[in-house]
Amino acid sequence: MSKELIERIEKAVQAALPGKRWKHTLGVRESAVSLAHEHGVDPFKAEVSALLHDYAKYWSRDDLWSIMLKLPEAAEMGDFDHQLWHAPVGAYLAEHEFGITDTEILDAIRYHTSGRPGMNMLEKVLCLADYIEPNRDYEGVEVLRNASKRSIEEALLLGMDLTIRLLIEKQKTIFPFTIISRNAMLLELKKRKGANT
Ligand SMILES: [Fe+2]
Ligand SMILES: [Fe+2]
Repeated sequence: MSKELIERIEKAVQAALPGKRWKHTLGVRESAVSLAHEHGVDPFKAEVSALLHDYAKYWSRDDLWSIMLKLPEAAEMGDFDHQLWHAPVGAYLAEHEFGITDTEILDAIRYHTSGRPGMNMLEKVLCLADYIEPNRDYEGVEVLRNASKRSIEEALLLGMDLTIRLLIEKQKTIFPFTIISRNAMLLELKKRKGANT
């Protein structure tokens, strides 16, 4: 069953994405599965959520919005860049097109762009894999890759800071939840360091 599901997902996602984004998706799968093994996460859940995370990335604004209207996120995300919408819409499609009911997988897809306070390990794995998969080559990616060997949270915090800085530089709006997630990650790390000293 699980192999069949993966094959169905691969076919549908490959058909929905341009070559470069499909290559990125395969990179995210590779990184997510390897991070899953390192951090005691179910590699199958990591694989499924990685394959589906950008499934709706190339949908038109109107198509995305038609699904968003069914979701609670419409209220808070509606006024922000529609690029954000592919995450909750991806979770919706995972459930309604592929029959995935596992809430950990659905949440990992739903929060892969914004993160959220109290992220579980699968959510962290997918979010970080999206930042560091082998095809990524933005300035600073090596710093994140190195940090990920020390601590998944440290690497994620660096990634979140990078995203927020980039949005400011481009004079783009920042979805408040992105900042809330970043603050939560910072506090999580501080608490842990405090506990260790
Ligand atoms: Fe994405
Ligand atoms: Fe992605």
